[in-house]
Amino acid sequence: MKTPEARRLASLLATAVLLSSGSAALADFVPVPLPDPKIPGYHFPENEATILKWVADSSVTDPTASAAADNQIYLHGWGIWASLTAETDQTENGQKLRVFETWLTPQDITAASQAGKNESLLKLPRGSRPVLEEFRQLKHHKGKDPHLEAAGTATVLGFVKYDPTAADHIMKQGLLQKSVLDQLLSYGADEIPVFPVTGLALKPVFQVIKKSDLVDGRYYQLPVWPGPPSTPQQWGSTTWPASVWIDVKDGGSGKGEIDKAPKKDGSSRTDATTYPVSSLINFKLNPDQAGALKAKGAAEGDYAILVAMHVSGREITRWTWQTFWWTPTPANPLAPSSDAIAKARPVQIKAPAANYAMSIAYTTELPSPPYVGGDNKGNSIYAYNPWLEAGFGPSDLPDSIPGTYNGQPVQNNYGVQSNCMSCHGAANYNPNNVSTAPDYSGDRYISLGDPRFSGTLKVDFLWSLPGNAK
Ligand code: HEC
Repeated sequence: MKTPEARRLASLLATAVLLSSGSAALADFVPVPLPDPKIPGYHFPENEATILKWVADSSVTDPTASAAADNQIYLHGWGIWASLTAETDQTENGQKLRVFETWLTPQDITAASQAGKNESLLKLPRGSRPVLEEFRQLKHHKGKDPHLEAAGTATVLGFVKYDPTAADHIMKQGLLQKSVLDQLLSYGADEIPVFPVTGLALKPVFQVIKKSDLVDGRYYQLPVWPGPPSTPQQWGSTTWPASVWIDVKDGGSGKGEIDKAPKKDGSSRTDATTYPVSSLINFKLNPDQAGALKAKGAAEGDYAILVAMHVSGREITRWTWQTFWWTPTPANPLAPSSDAIAKARPVQIKAPAANYAMSIAYTTELPSPPYVGGDNKGNSIYAYNPWLEAGFGPSDLPDSIPGTYNGQPVQNNYGVQSNCMSCHGAANYNPNNVSTAPDYSGDRYISLGDPRFSGTLKVDFLWSLPGNAK
């Protein structure tokens, strides 16, 4: 899992990011705390007891169900999305920044702590939109899996971000410093100091639209998620047969139609399978970002479109997990989203944020197993993002164990059988390479007291901490 090469690569890349983000003029802008979207019935942070009751009462064992408790969970996920994607009054390149865009990356926090800026973290002047990086989750398994290899070398890129309260916690506790994590472990801690209930972590994923990829100088072919495969298999974006066309000149009348047999030269494109670039959350690459992606052929002013975003919050001990992806059919999104989820989307969410599907997991099985001492006998709950996890196969998910889905025995070792909470529940810092340390898996129960953590430091579900600690 943590080969020396992977570590060396990660640290080289992180250094490159720091160097390049220091090179251009830094915009003066500040991270915005999560605003209240004023959605009736939505409250943040919600009480842990309340959320646990929704989970206990939910009926997700029946995927078509939409009992009151399920709707509470869906509304909660959408409420967080509404706040994150709200526009602020800060701008870059003449475009308003959305709340999540103002938040801090691990690199921002490391740079601030190296510069001794503990007190002024929230006022730290910096380039607003960070350089896009290949994801560790994909990079990690590079060379093992052709789908992931493709995903890792394509222009699907992004970064990890923390809300101001989570960033503050990381900064004050030194959680991105290996020396601090080592010290905790050597003095007997089994877990980092846990995050405040307001803590949120994100992983936005962008597709960069290079000029050389455009047909007729304006149309970009974007693969569309076909829904889960009938038998579990690796189902990454390179295997999706259909596409839509994104017009960087903002034309197109697309309202759900897709191009089922797309031709690279654009001859299959119609106005109905074309969508304006403004129907997705997007921004234009600044000189720093373009510079960092030069080798991939990107240039300043190229669009980066938000295809997906992972969102996790510390309101409950095992965190809430929701993920979003752009869809041509926001009212009828395919699994792992559903019509019931779409129906729960409040009217306060406007396009382009309203053009995203949501998948959500507030537990790993139903009935929901307890924090400690549970088992894997319940019905599997799958929650994943087509752009990020669907390409995973058994070798990427080595700690998978068999489970049950709709009464049938299942292996739960493909990305399309994964659950955010299961894989993140395994997150640990393991400098001594303890061989039993929990690793990535598909959907499964994982106890907070799992003896396999012994000798490691649990990192409160956030893999990005050990992944980015310096
Ligand atoms: C196979 C394991 C795996 C699965 C499944 C998975 N993740 Fe992650 N996730 C990771 C790893 C590893 C990272 C660290 C990436 C980095 O450091 O760049 C990460 C990073 C993140 C982050 C950034 C903060 C952090 O430190 O964890 C969020 C938020 C996140 N994932 C949410 C989700 C959501 C939501 C889902 C389900 C829809 C999900 N993840 C499924 C492994 C996984």
